[in-house]
Amino acid sequence: MSKLFPTILSQVKAPPIKCQGIKTKLIPFIAQNIEWNGDGRWIEPFLGSGSVLFNLKPPIALVSDTNKHIITFYNELKSGKINEAIVRDYLCQMGKKLTKRGEKFYYEVRDEFNEKGGSLEFLFLNRSCFNGLMRFNSDGKYNVPFGHKPQRFSKSYITKIVNQVAWVRSLIKRYDWEFIVSDFRMTLKTAKQNDFVYLDPPYIGRHTDYFNSWDDSDAEEMVRCVKQLPCGYAISMWQENKYRKNEHIDKFWLTETIQHFNHFYHVGSTENLRNEIIEALIIRNGYSSISQLVSTKRSEKEIALFEIPTA
Ligand SMILES: C[S@@+](CC[C@H](N)C(=O)[O-])C[C@H]1O[C@@H](n2cnc3c(N)ncnc32)[C@H](O)[C@@H]1O
Repeated sequence: MSKLFPTILSQVKAPPIKCQGIKTKLIPFIAQNIEWNGDGRWIEPFLGSGSVLFNLKPPIALVSDTNKHIITFYNELKSGKINEAIVRDYLCQMGKKLTKRGEKFYYEVRDEFNEKGGSLEFLFLNRSCFNGLMRFNSDGKYNVPFGHKPQRFSKSYITKIVNQVAWVRSLIKRYDWEFIVSDFRMTLKTAKQNDFVYLDPPYIGRHTDYFNSWDDSDAEEMVRCVKQLPCGYAISMWQENKYRKNEHIDKFWLTETIQHFNHFYHVGSTENLRNEIIEALIIRNGYSSISQLVSTKRSEKEIALFEIPTA
């Protein structure tokens, strides 16, 4: 029987929505390391930007997030309420106003969005805010400051976003994907034997970044729910950097298969200032493409295979 994964992905594309923790760099690694025939549903309870779903393209999927703005955005692409032509017109108009009125205009749109919502406003804020962040306060209000680029929506930037929207809309039309607002606990309850669950939870200990908080008790509850799943799963989690090690992995996941991906990010302009981070992909035993029960830290040579230099 043919298998959907493992597979080699030669190209990874970026989705129209940005969020911290986006897994663009790790997608080929995920595709290469999991084993699943694709008979059931791809379940992704922490969808975020959707980068993993859109690049892996499973035929049937149930994807969810507690962030209603993300889910509404993709559902409106699905229903046709918004499309690439609407996005182009909207961003052209908004871009002109932003050029003219600068940050005052950004904050007006942000206030209006926090009152009434709106997928186009969400996209505008997400693509003009500081560092493409997705951050909400404890009342669920978007609170990222302006990115200080009034000329942000150049012709080429708008075309880039429009192409990302067109790409995602074509996928949503082609595949059987359901997008729902849901807490991970509810989504996981629906999993069946042939499904495969990919989890990319928020970083433990960081409370303010996402639509709702995430702490040790959520992380431990996720462990309980995941260990009861009737199907395969893989979980993305940071493993260690120069300063810290993720103790959650040692505490809960050493019995499963763990593959490591090593990448670097720059904190300054010179080579000396590059920092290394090791990401873990925890894969349920029996669902890893590399047949080993418990893989310990990869050798430097193996790690180098997956290293992607940062531009
Ligand atoms: C690390 S991000 C996922 C990033 C995604 N893999 C990507 O590539 O863009 C984690 C996501 O989990 C969502 N989230 C936080 N708490 C949640 C919960 N209790 N249930 C479901 N989703 C939650 C956040 O809104 C956020 O979008």
